[in-house]
Parts: sequence; C-alpha cells; structure tokens
Amino acid sequence: MIIYFAFLILTTMPFVFSIKCHSCLTYCKTVNGKVDPVNCDCKSPPNEQCSANACFAKVELFADESTAIVQKGCISDFPSGQRGCQYASNMDTIHCFCDQDQCNTRHKLGSYIPSRLPSVECCHCTSRHGEDCDSGCSTNCRGNYCVVDFDGKEQGCGLGYPRLPSFLRVDDYLDYEGDYLCTRYESSASNVMNGCVCTHPSGLCNEFNKTFNYQKKHVIERKHENLHYCYALMHKGYKPFGQEVFKKSSTCEGHYCFISLTTSEIVLESADFKHNYEDHDEFVGAARPRFELQAGCVKVNGNDKVQIGCTVETQGNSSEVLAKHCICDSHLCNFHHLVRGTDDPRPKAAIPGVKQTTNQLNPVRLYTSNKEIDENDILSVMNGVREAQSMTIGAFIWLCIRIF
Ligand SMILES: *[C@@H]1O[C@H](CO)[C@@H](O)[C@H](O)[C@H]1NC(C)=O
Ligand SMILES: *[C@@H]1O[C@H](CO)[C@@H](O)[C@H](O)[C@H]1NC(C)=O
Repeated sequence: MIIYFAFLILTTMPFVFSIKCHSCLTYCKTVNGKVDPVNCDCKSPPNEQCSANACFAKVELFADESTAIVQKGCISDFPSGQRGCQYASNMDTIHCFCDQDQCNTRHKLGSYIPSRLPSVECCHCTSRHGEDCDSGCSTNCRGNYCVVDFDGKEQGCGLGYPRLPSFLRVDDYLDYEGDYLCTRYESSASNVMNGCVCTHPSGLCNEFNKTFNYQKKHVIERKHENLHYCYALMHKGYKPFGQEVFKKSSTCEGHYCFISLTTSEIVLESADFKHNYEDHDEFVGAARPRFELQAGCVKVNGNDKVQIGCTVETQGNSSEVLAKHCICDSHLCNFHHLVRGTDDPRPKAAIPGVKQTTNQLNPVRLYTSNKEIDENDILSVMNGVREAQSMTIGAFIWLCIRIF
C-alpha cells in the first residue's frame, strides 16, 4: 500500500480549478475487518482544502493490525473514469473519486462501500508454487477481471479496478470490457512488467498460451520500426532530489515513455513499544516523506489503450504534489521537468530527435527481466504493492525496537 504525499510545489498551474476538496489523513480501528466510515472520516477547514477537477479518498485496510487509514486530497482527473468507490485490485484497498465541491466525505461517498462490478471466471496458477501454467487452466477463480503475468508465469483474479488502466491513463476502463489491456513496461532491470488484464464475459481470458501469443504479436512486436527512446531510471530516497539523478539513467525503447513521481508513503506505526510485534494492538496511521521516481518505456497493444498527458494528485492549499504520473510519445520525453511541472531545462540541441544522437547521448543498454525479485511480478505490480506495505510496517517496528 503505499499511498503517497508530496512535498514539491507545482510551479505552473495551467488550468483553472473548479472545485475544492478535503485534504487530510485519518485512521481508525476496523469493524469486522471493514472500514468504520464514521471514525475514518476527516474534513479540512476551507483554508486548508485543495483545488482541482476532482477529489479522492483512498482507504487502506491493514487486516492483521485491525486498522484502516483514509487519505483525502485532489486529483487532476478521474483515473480511467472511476467515479464513486471501488476496490483497487484487492480487498484491502478502496479508491473513491468524485467531482463536486467538497464531495470527498463519507456521506457523499456512500460510506466508502465499493459499487458492484460484473464478475468473470479466470484461470488461476502460480508457477512459483510449482504449478505448470502452460497446460491450460487447472484451477479457476472469480473476480472482476483476470490477470496474466508472462515473466513470473502467474494467472489470477483481481477485485474492482486493476491498476493498469490508471497507469495507461485510459479514459474509461469500462469501455474495455471484453477487451485485453496488455503491456510490457520497464524502468530498470529489476522492474519489468509484462502481462495483460482482461474481462471477457465468457471467461478464462487469461489462458496462458493464447495470451502469450497475443502479447508477442500485439505488444512486443507491434510497430517495431517506430519506437521511441526513453530514459530508464528508478530512484528512491527519503530526501527530495532533482534532475541530477538522470545522470545514472539508461534508456529503453517503447511505443511510449512514462515518468512517475511519488513523494510520500503511508505507514502504520505502533502506538506502543512492546518488543514483540504480535503484542502490538494500537496503531497510528501517518504519512512520511519518501520519494520515488520511475521513468521508463511502455509497449502496449494499441494506441487506443493509452492517453498521453499527466495525472497529478495534490494536497493542501498550496497544491503540494502527492503523486504525478505522465505518459509521452517522443524520444527522451520522460525527463524530470514533466513531474516537476517546469519548463524543459535541456538545451534544444541536446534533445535528440533521431536514433543516432540518442545513442551518442545515452548508450542503449538492453534489459533482461530479473524475476528473482518477487514483488515485481505482475500480480503485485498491477495489483498494487501489498508486500511493500508489510515491509514498511516491519521496518518501522524494527526501528522502534532498535531505538528504545
Ligand atoms: C494554507 O494552509 C495553512 C495551514 O495548513 C494556513 O496557515 C494558511 O493560512 C493557508 N493559506 C491560505 C491562503 O488559505
Ligand atoms: C501451451 O504451449 C506449450 C508449449 O508451446 C505446450 O506444450 C502446451 O501443450 C500448450 N498448452 C495448451 C493448453 O495449448
């Protein structure tokens, strides 16, 4: 779960914002494993609200700790047309979006209860557990969409909306019912995502052989002559950083380039300092600065599956960026200025328009995906980062024990 906050100030605000949103963070004990909407509601006074085209409220449930955290703020547009509340790929995350003045309250968001979506039957298989995923569907599951991961050889079901349509910035995810959203994107050797989500009503749309051949033809080999060079970079830190981190970037090739910045993470801290984690029963939800930049290249099954531009989440009356995610379509367009909202600082001549110059500027290194890193498989990349969340909690507890 890691939900993010921002500490960078957007320097350019090219559009007029129409509505105000509550911008706050709160947490509460869960009731029967569900969020308690009454105790998990927060409001901001008018002078601390943010302005945007839409508001959000994100609910993160920590089952083992019986705690929920709710974060509210502003967003530039609905990710993939998601109005209302919906699970974001798993039962522990609910995302709500609305577009009326100060609408991100529990009342206007129906107590954060996810709306119903059609369900489909999918193949379920995990090669990590020694299963043979090539030979048809041995086990089935039901969810709101199916997932297939080619590198990690996994298939499964997702709940609510997958993360992929938001990543690709598609206008309305529900328009793709019955269709495939397939992609291969990478930002570093250890962060490669290669797979599809699908919702075919007749079911089992994530059968391995069929989707693998589809992926090869419609994603990997599509428009092979006409790809863009992109910066490839992954940088994380507890302090803000500037464009200097691009010195260690590499490049990759895709139909599009992307760049994402997140500036904060939500952590669950123990309210007391007992030595055994199992004994902890009071938790405090908090946000702390943690900066993560990812830039890379995206291949996708059709230009109609992507929308160029940026989605930005902000908080507070000065519109601090919590997260910004951009997709662009020219050589090396995914530079730092996109997420900082500033002018491109690179001298015009240094922005290469042709392959030749690109090669000189930044030698192309070919990546191979590294599947030893478990949390980079599609089920976690597409379905969010649940592993990272428990690691975050673990790391914090460890810190407490060390200090006290
Ligand atoms: C912005 O919010 C801060 C508190 O977070 C407040 O002190 C300040 O007055 C607000 N500014 C405006 C212009 O409302
Ligand atoms: C899938 O492909 C593999 C290897 O090409 C083959 O051995 C297997 O029989 C195929 N499975 C199905 C269900 O078509």
